[in-house]
Amino acid sequence: MIDLFTIYHENCIETLARMPDDVIDMTITSPPYDDLRDYNGYHFPIEDITKGLFAKTKPGGVVIWVVADRTYNGSESLSSFEHAFAFRDAGFRVHDTMIYAKNNPIPSDCGKRYRQAFEYMFCFSKGQPETFNPITVAIKQEKAFKSFRITKTGRNDLAHDHVAPRERKVNNIFFYNVGTSSSSDKIAFKHPAIFPEKLVEDQILTWTNEDGLVYDPFMGSGTTAKVAGLLGRKWVGSEISSEYIEIAMERLRANASEQSRSAGG
Ligand SMILES: C[S@@+](CC[C@H](N)C(=O)[O-])C[C@H]1O[C@@H](n2cnc3c(N)ncnc32)[C@H](O)[C@@H]1O
Repeated sequence: MIDLFTIYHENCIETLARMPDDVIDMTITSPPYDDLRDYNGYHFPIEDITKGLFAKTKPGGVVIWVVADRTYNGSESLSSFEHAFAFRDAGFRVHDTMIYAKNNPIPSDCGKRYRQAFEYMFCFSKGQPETFNPITVAIKQEKAFKSFRITKTGRNDLAHDHVAPRERKVNNIFFYNVGTSSSSDKIAFKHPAIFPEKLVEDQILTWTNEDGLVYDPFMGSGTTAKVAGLLGRKWVGSEISSEYIEIAMERLRANASEQSRSAGG
């Protein structure tokens, strides 16, 4: 069994082994990729991880996998695609290849390339996703329109007039600020690679309902735990580095006391 609201200090493979099958509603994570960053205890057996995640994810559950490639001598590693193939081979559907675009990417001279400003945000699912609460935007135009079909004889209007919908789903490119505005917790920045809280919030709200179980196998500074807790979801995490667990725990404690202060507790 697993203890909820716990970051296990171990390789995520071991945490997955503790879990019963079909228990996770959603995994959201940014794994260590290539050797961009030197994490203590770095170990990354992708096939074992994807197989473990498949077994422990509920039918209809999803994995949001936020990943980018390293560029070696001007050529991209494509390890994000290797990950995508590993998920597919483990049994997941590739539900959507979304993009996490950065409003303020790190300024750098990329030689004969444009500035790198996005990461992949793969959505893998175990069967069709059970839950989908799409983020929508209002549509201004409200006039009625006729739907039509182009045939060999030209345009044929279909019988019914339609009223244009008032809202539509957002596109699958999500834009976020990175850097100091991506979290209000200063302590989080002691970790070199946090992802924006808003990204985690948007994805958790989309793919889970209240009380759903969210797992992060690479918990880092605890962003997933913090956001899942604020949204009333259950969570579990793994993190191999004790240094980062301390950061995450300090962050969670600070937020818990902040919440109890705002609630008058
Ligand atoms: C990109 S960071 C995650 C950052 C996190 N999303 C955040 O917002 O703070 C990846 C983390 O995975 C941890 N890690 C690397 N290999 C691991 C493994 N096999 N099991 C568990 N954690 C691991 C690293 O120590 C690192 O903190």
